[in-house]
Amino acid sequence: MTQTTNGSPARRRVLVTGASRGLGLAIAHGFAGQGAALAVNGRDGAALEAVAASLRAGDTPVVLAPGDVARDAPAIIAAARAGLGGLDVVVHAAALRDRRPTAELDADAFSALLDANLTGAYAIGRAAMPHLAASQAGRLVFVTSIAAMVARAGDPAYAAAKGGLAALTRSLAVEFGSDRLTVNAVAPGFFATETNRGLAADPAITRFIDMRVPLRRWGRPEEIAPAVLFLASAEASYVNGVTLTVDGGLSARM
Ligand SMILES: NC(=O)c1ccc[n+]([C@@H]2O[C@H](COP(=O)([O-])OP(=O)(O)OC[C@H]3O[C@@H](n4cnc5c(N)ncnc54)[C@H](OP(=O)(O)O)[C@@H]3O)[C@@H](O)[C@H]2O)c1
Repeated sequence: MTQTTNGSPARRRVLVTGASRGLGLAIAHGFAGQGAALAVNGRDGAALEAVAASLRAGDTPVVLAPGDVARDAPAIIAAARAGLGGLDVVVHAAALRDRRPTAELDADAFSALLDANLTGAYAIGRAAMPHLAASQAGRLVFVTSIAAMVARAGDPAYAAAKGGLAALTRSLAVEFGSDRLTVNAVAPGFFATETNRGLAADPAITRFIDMRVPLRRWGRPEEIAPAVLFLASAEASYVNGVTLTVDGGLSARM
């Protein structure tokens, strides 16, 4: 990667996990629009190839860092780092969705979801930290959820994982905070991604959104990227350990 005269990379080097679709993909496009060099992660290599091709169309250098975040975090970080020549920003968006009420969710299923969504985030953060610390402006941004703060009935594992991720954000921010390294999170509300297509077609959910979300609509995937870009920016140099809610006002409503 070309270097500027002060030794920092000419393009920021950014890994986005869970970049093959949905919010992670929208975030990857946001960084591509800023001229970043990208590493994209997901478990499906063919889907990642297609995503990389679409991102490269705009002259963005893109490398693949495939793997399961819970099992392969060191290899994912190593692939991103090797392909980009270092890492300045890691955005962790990968997560599983397994919405099941308590009666249908035994302890093994609960544990499996925590493993994917919370332990996976920890593993990515842990593997990334030394490289982010070596950057001129290291940034770790987790994608949590308003489920970390407010609950819907029948979704205990996802809520526990996302609540844990908000706490992990604070914990890593406090442990690793330095002049150049910050750890923050975004908490999306209801976003109209492919994964939510079934929900979006449900009239009961449409009524809920209309009644409960002050902006009275779903979020568009491209509306999450600016929040992440801000937390990853030089302008956010004194923002550390926060979770920025992006939910159209849903969690502010009494
Ligand atoms: N959409 C919403 O309304 C909403 C609301 C609140 C929070 N969020 C959060 O935002 C993030 C993205 O949500 P989304 O709706 O865009 O989800 P999505 O469409 O289901 O995409 C999930 C992404 O993560 C990857 N992934 C899943 N498990 C993985 C694993 N173990 N290792 C590596 N990659 C994995 C998937 O690719 P592969 O399947 O190929 O691995 C995919 O790229 C998630 O953290 C989610 O919890 C979303």
